Amino acid sequence: MILPPSLSIREGHLCVGGEDCNGLTERFGTPLYVTDGDRVLANYYAYSTALSSRYTQVRVLYAAKANGNLAILRMLGKAGAGADVFSSGELQLALSAGMLPEDLLFNGNSKNAADLTLAVQKGVKVSVDSLDELALLDSVAEAEGKTAEIAFRVNPAIEVPTHPKIATGLRTSKFGIPHEQILSAYQAALSCEHIQPVGLHCHIGSQILDMEPFVQEAEVIVDLAGKLVDLGVPLQFIDLGGGLGIPYRHATDPAPTPEDYAARVLPVFLQGIKEAGIRPAFWVEPGRYLVADSTVLLTRVNSVKEAYCRFVNVDAGFNLLVRPAMYDAYHEVVVANRADVPPLNMCTIAGPICESGDILARDRYLPVVRAGDLVAILDTGAYGFAMSSQYNARPRCAEVLIAGKTVSAMRRAETVEDLIAPMEDCTR
Ligand code: LLP
Repeated sequence: MILPPSLSIREGHLCVGGEDCNGLTERFGTPLYVTDGDRVLANYYAYSTALSSRYTQVRVLYAAKANGNLAILRMLGKAGAGADVFSSGELQLALSAGMLPEDLLFNGNSKNAADLTLAVQKGVKVSVDSLDELALLDSVAEAEGKTAEIAFRVNPAIEVPTHPKIATGLRTSKFGIPHEQILSAYQAALSCEHIQPVGLHCHIGSQILDMEPFVQEAEVIVDLAGKLVDLGVPLQFIDLGGGLGIPYRHATDPAPTPEDYAARVLPVFLQGIKEAGIRPAFWVEPGRYLVADSTVLLTRVNSVKEAYCRFVNVDAGFNLLVRPAMYDAYHEVVVANRADVPPLNMCTIAGPICESGDILARDRYLPVVRAGDLVAILDTGAYGFAMSSQYNARPRCAEVLIAGKTVSAMRRAETVEDLIAPMEDCTR
């Protein structure tokens, strides 16, 4: 098996960032998310370098929804990243991680007055998703005695080769304003007293391994940018969103890099802004690419059962990693305490949740697996912990960060008391 760069094998044991997974679980227990912080930074620098070597005004806004752990936000913030935040909660996380309001963009198709008030009070730009939201923001800004700087989220109606649930710029998607209505939306914004349109925003989907849809997106957006100049919109930035995928099937998936992305998209952007006679900043919002391959989910085998197939029952399920159940997502699997043994047995990795769909990996060839073994589910840094739940009253697990030689918990495991407390407060 081809391992992602943060993983290695030492004396038959899987290591993350050089740390033995078996030792980590002795110390922190299972299930356990383990993240190689150096890998996150390397991914970030790959992105920012690929873009800034082609254009001077570039900003990388990390999509905080992919993994909102404060330690990761802090690390990326220190490295120079801003953030795409999709809720008041993510906005506050990014600020508490030390990111600056001007380095954030508040996205979302359904924000309420409290969300918009927070954005205006903190001075965070808003990507507006509807004319109703525009009117609400105008009144919120008036009440706060401020002017809100905005972009509109454009729906460019672009088909993308990814799972339909994570395509976000289809004609049928809930996100954004249809591109044919966008000029009148900006006209409406220009006539609002407490709104200043300064940007243009788009995001076409996630886990995209083909560069062509990104090129199409850039073409639609720079074409709109030219028309906005004619309307008198002072465009300070164009944000093309995130979406660059990773090769979950390491041996066979294409593995486009930020360099591939930049080499295809930047020329379209540069040509477009030249024709429009403007020099807005170029923003992107990668989530998955920065964090996915930095992390493994370690889970203990409780039992192995020969039934319809060989079920390997582990202690993590879709409560901790919902991607396989939700999108039929594929994550590679390694037996972490026998990582150098040839794969001989076909196994299905089943979680502990009371749902037939709670399967983390189906029909995989693995070394002989026994109760007590440790299984690693790879590439779980994006939309892993972030989408976890407490279903079946299972407290969420801890997360560990390896940064250089330092190993530390970046989130403690929840306890049953954490589950009970919010209810007890109400029912006492
Ligand atoms: N910007 C916006 C406005 C977004 O909606 C998203 C993701 C991103 C940036 C980051 O996209 P990325 O670079 O991570 O592809 N839970 C799904 C993915 C949902 C993505 C939703 N939007 C999954 O586990 O595959």
